[in-house]
Amino acid sequence: MKIYLIGMMGSGKSTVGKLLSERLKIKFVDLDSIIEDKTHKTVAEIFEQNGENHFRELESNILEKSKGVEGVVACGGGIILDEKNRHILKSSGEIIFLKSSVSELVKRLHSADDRPLLADKQIEKELDIIWSARKILYEQTAHLIISVDGRTPKEITELILDQLN
Ligand code: S3P
Repeated sequence: MKIYLIGMMGSGKSTVGKLLSERLKIKFVDLDSIIEDKTHKTVAEIFEQNGENHFRELESNILEKSKGVEGVVACGGGIILDEKNRHILKSSGEIIFLKSSVSELVKRLHSADDRPLLADKQIEKELDIIWSARKILYEQTAHLIISVDGRTPKEITELILDQLN
């Protein structure tokens, strides 16, 4: 079984992904963490030293390589930007979009230190811009859309399990 979690930064993909993988007794994989392990750099350092385009190439490579992996895969928020990525996602597993309002994301993203796209920006304004550009891509790519506003990671996990059954 292969489940991809997609959604904006701060929507809870990693936390929910871990809980979901425990409940399903399958592996949990976080694409950003794999990139950080492989490059020995944080995502923020890659953006700063090599630029966003380089990060996107790494992200696509890792996604391609993890196609055959069974488990729950938490994707970086921007994975859906690339058409090839969207194709890989759609052809390799069940895609669950954790949908959050921008105001909820702002609450969750107290510090944007590890989110280079938000660094030195007004978080809410920037999230609004990013959300407007991506909303349709998340919705069109997902097989299942789960609203996360006001829900705990445990509640979200249970909701996903109900929907998968
Ligand atoms: C990004 C989201 C981040 C990370 C990078 C870019 C994005 O992952 O991949 O900072 O473009 O939305 P999370 O969604 O796990 O924060």
